[in-house]
Amino acid sequence: MGFATNAIHVGQEPDPATGAVVAPIYQTSTYVYEELGKNKGYDYARTNHPNRKALEKTIAKLEGGHSAYVFTSGMAAIDSVFRLFRPGDHIVLSEAVYGGVYRLSTQLLVHFGLEFSFVDTSIPACVLTAMRPNTKLIYIETPTNPTMRVTDIAAIAKMATERNVTLAVDNTFLSPYLQRPIELGADIVVHSMTKYLNGHSDCTGGAAILTRPEDAEKIYFIQRSAGAGLAPMDCFLVSRGLKTLAVRMERHNQNGMAVAKFLEGHAKVKRVIYPGLASHAQHEVAKRQQRGFGAMLSFDLGSLDAAKRLLNHVKLCSLAESLGGVETLISHPALMTHASVPPDIQKQIGITEGLVRLSVGIEDVEDLIADLDQALAKV
Ligand SMILES: Cc1ncc(COP(=O)(O)O)c(C=O)c1O
Repeated sequence: MGFATNAIHVGQEPDPATGAVVAPIYQTSTYVYEELGKNKGYDYARTNHPNRKALEKTIAKLEGGHSAYVFTSGMAAIDSVFRLFRPGDHIVLSEAVYGGVYRLSTQLLVHFGLEFSFVDTSIPACVLTAMRPNTKLIYIETPTNPTMRVTDIAAIAKMATERNVTLAVDNTFLSPYLQRPIELGADIVVHSMTKYLNGHSDCTGGAAILTRPEDAEKIYFIQRSAGAGLAPMDCFLVSRGLKTLAVRMERHNQNGMAVAKFLEGHAKVKRVIYPGLASHAQHEVAKRQQRGFGAMLSFDLGSLDAAKRLLNHVKLCSLAESLGGVETLISHPALMTHASVPPDIQKQIGITEGLVRLSVGIEDVEDLIADLDQALAKV
């Protein structure tokens, strides 16, 4: 079946008890036993519940994985993947990862004996140089948040396979509709489902998609032991969001490109970073490995003052953290999403004071452009 058909039907069969086409929200913490040692497959909602099982089935199918596990946030899913490793293991990460991943690794997991190196993974030679005999995982985000750097997944996968190193890819910015890391050689995919998979900005969630049964077993153990599995209502919301993922992403692609072109042609904008533009440093890689360019872009206005003026004058775009929803969100990475990244590192990876990040929604694009145009006039 095609992607949209799978998104609507896999794991989303009518409720066996009532025939409801949309399965109900199983809002219960516990499940009755028929007799000692015999239940209907569920005992306690931390361990598992029907809404979680359904969503995990859909997501595993859409990413082409062996199995998927869903968590209370993207960070909880990423944390569970890092917990597959042991003290003394070394992990190479994209230097421009989401600020929360930088914080989790450098301020928390480092105290549990994991070692981290941050490099520009868009240059495969940098990854090779960073590898050590104890390197166990390469963790890449592509495109990166918010600098939109693109990493060649197949090239890094080849390098990882040859050295018996696991490759994990954060596919949040594009969703499996636009990028399929497992087909390109990744072993693990992670998502902040808070973004495109849910698509409606009404819950947080994360997913880890595995290709190897032994990883799946460990992640399920972590999920049910540490207790960060996603709750019934939130699973229901993401399952509902997924049903329109294909049509939403088509519209996101169109709007993303139109807004990027508008900004690139605007005199007040110094630079637009969007993988769909020929001016993007990894445009060719993006063209090759992505099915579309998505709707995340960043642009530089040259100074904090200029960025502030724009952010304080937009009317339709909402000044808010997060991304990937139907509504357009605008943010200032240096002071918002990436505030936990030290200023010298921000500078090194290209997060300038004038950088603005845009998550282009699926509104009428003329309205978005008009809003940005009137706010840019105030800069
Ligand atoms: C690329 C990326 N990965 C992971 C996360 C973390 O996800 P969550 O906020 O759902 O914990 C984010 C959050 O913005 C993100 O942008």
